[in-house]
Amino acid sequence: MSRHKIILDCDPGHDDAIAILLAAGDPSIELLAITTCAGNQTLEKVTRNALAVCAVAGLDVPVAAGAAGPLVRQQLVAPDIHGESGLDGPVLPAPTHAADPRHAVDLIIDTIMAHEPGTVSLVPTGPLTNIALAMRKEPSIIGRVKEVVLMGGSYTRGNRTPAAEFNIAADPEAAAAVFDAEWPVTMVGLDLTHQATADDDVVARIAAIGSPLADFVVEVLTFFASTYRERQGFDAPPVHDPCCVAAIIDPSVMEIRSAFVAVELAGTWTSGMTVTDFGDAYGQPHNARVATKLDRARFWDLTIEAIRRLSEASATEASATTEGTPQ
Ligand code: BDR
Ligand code: CA
Repeated sequence: MSRHKIILDCDPGHDDAIAILLAAGDPSIELLAITTCAGNQTLEKVTRNALAVCAVAGLDVPVAAGAAGPLVRQQLVAPDIHGESGLDGPVLPAPTHAADPRHAVDLIIDTIMAHEPGTVSLVPTGPLTNIALAMRKEPSIIGRVKEVVLMGGSYTRGNRTPAAEFNIAADPEAAAAVFDAEWPVTMVGLDLTHQATADDDVVARIAAIGSPLADFVVEVLTFFASTYRERQGFDAPPVHDPCCVAAIIDPSVMEIRSAFVAVELAGTWTSGMTVTDFGDAYGQPHNARVATKLDRARFWDLTIEAIRRLSEASATEASATTEGTPQ
């Protein structure tokens, strides 16, 4: 079986961390690279967090740091949701691997160019700055990428402002460039991701795996639950970013409708809104597939199974190392 090749462009971030684990732990995904973009926290912090997640999970995937801020706007960060480190809650281990020396934009371009056209998917789960810069630097990637499955936007509401979701609000110009380009775009927005809640039952199932990685995930979700409860009034936190990875693993995990989506750049109060024209009021060609309904049970089955697989792989590696160590 040939695996789905993906590049995960992220800003870890509690839910980004779970997206990394789902991508690394599902057997149908080949995680080619992790690239980071300033978003939930500064570039330095989110890159460190990505490397820490790789260390906890025992991953050896290239991780490259990218854009330190948006194309034109003032930088936004989200300590209210993700804490000062960007991944508050668990004790973060020291990275076991150094970051790739390339800029994320170059790692993205090099990785796409190194594979057959139409075989690599981009999965951005932070602001879209790196993707917009990669398109600008090497426009031919637009025709080579299989699809872009992004977490961002919504057709009903925002979370950073009443109109705008955080990832789009953080760099609307970059988002507009990504939606306007001639490649297949799937918008996995808040309408969908707010169905991906990690309730007590989900957390108990992860805890029952009984591994250091599972304990780490429980701590990640516990912190995320506390900020979502205090700041946004959620009973259980919506784990946005892995929904994109799940859509690649199993497209039937979500219902999709096609639409014209425009990113508002000029609105006084609506900047960063993803105006979604399901009714064709503007008569524009459809440029996006828009996620609407999640099969929540299937989503959590996939995610929990990935954490279990990674936990078993770490345990096997640890016992092989112990057996090979002279006493
Ligand atoms: C998005 O913003 C970030 O806080 C999360 O990681 C997610 O990508 C949700 O609006
Ligand atoms: Ca994110």
